[in-house]
Amino acid sequence: MTEEALSFNSVSELYKIVGGYKINNLAVDSRYFREHLLEYVNEEIAVSEKYISSRNQNPHMVKFFWGHDHDFGYFKLSGLMGTRHIWLLSRMLDHFGLSLNDLAGKTVLDVGCWTGGVSLILSKLAAEVYAIDEIHKYVDVVNFLSESFDIKNLYAKWLSLYEVNTAFNRNKFDFVFCFGVIYHLTDPLVGLRRIYNSMAPGGLLCIETMSHPMEESVCIYEGPSISEGICGWNYFIPSPKAFQRLLQDAGFEVVHIGNGVKPLSVTSSNDPLGENRCLALARKVSNHVFCRAGISVDID
Ligand SMILES: C[S@@+](CC[C@H](N)C(=O)[O-])C[C@H]1O[C@@H](n2cnc3c(N)ncnc32)[C@H](O)[C@@H]1O
Repeated sequence: MTEEALSFNSVSELYKIVGGYKINNLAVDSRYFREHLLEYVNEEIAVSEKYISSRNQNPHMVKFFWGHDHDFGYFKLSGLMGTRHIWLLSRMLDHFGLSLNDLAGKTVLDVGCWTGGVSLILSKLAAEVYAIDEIHKYVDVVNFLSESFDIKNLYAKWLSLYEVNTAFNRNKFDFVFCFGVIYHLTDPLVGLRRIYNSMAPGGLLCIETMSHPMEESVCIYEGPSISEGICGWNYFIPSPKAFQRLLQDAGFEVVHIGNGVKPLSVTSSNDPLGENRCLALARKVSNHVFCRAGISVDID
């Protein structure tokens, strides 16, 4: 059986959307905009994170790392993720049966927004976009981008996804985007259930994770002790089958899972998303009863 080829049909459309965030559309002085962003990037703005000491913490708590490539027309910022977020969104759209129009009128949550690459795109497509991150300075930057481009429907909040259900209304979000976050969690099942509780019945979760090419349902554990001197911030890295089960146990029906062309598989090294990534589209099943055995926090 031959594999269906990857399609990148929506990539040009997504680039067009990103291209709307350029100097011509700034609502603030362009010199001020550039200088202020560079103050963040060059760490001239001190933003206090949750921790008193940086010891044994995620490097993002200490240093500022720009996430997503962005050409503002008169200067460019290169991000650690490059343009991967664009290819990731396009994979969801082109291979999981979604279209850009599906977001029209919808309330959307972007979990782990970093420097807002995904949030900026979503805000052009949806009615309301909430972006959250556990790193304070990234939320500040997304709010700065939102104000600078006079985006009326993008709200960034400094919030862990574990708190999403308590801080927002329950049953609120029609769509949740959660790219590259789940393996950063000490407790992925609780995190997924908190997302579940924040979603409207029937809402769709577009989620992506680091994974590994094993058929069995296994999670590889890394943890902060993985590398000497540098704090590792990956915890449980699920195989596709384990990822599927996590989603199901959190209360989702898994509609699609895999690399886009092959179910329950990971991306290969020549993929624009990089290797060993797995994507899923999952629907909130109404009234799913969460198994409370061995639970770490109060959750429903
Ligand atoms: C690898 S980046 C992914 C960024 C973005 N979603 C993308 O795909 O372009 C992971 C982001 O998730 C955030 N994050 C990690 N754990 C989180 C949590 N518990 N709650 C909210 N954000 C979290 C990190 O601070 C970081 O900005």
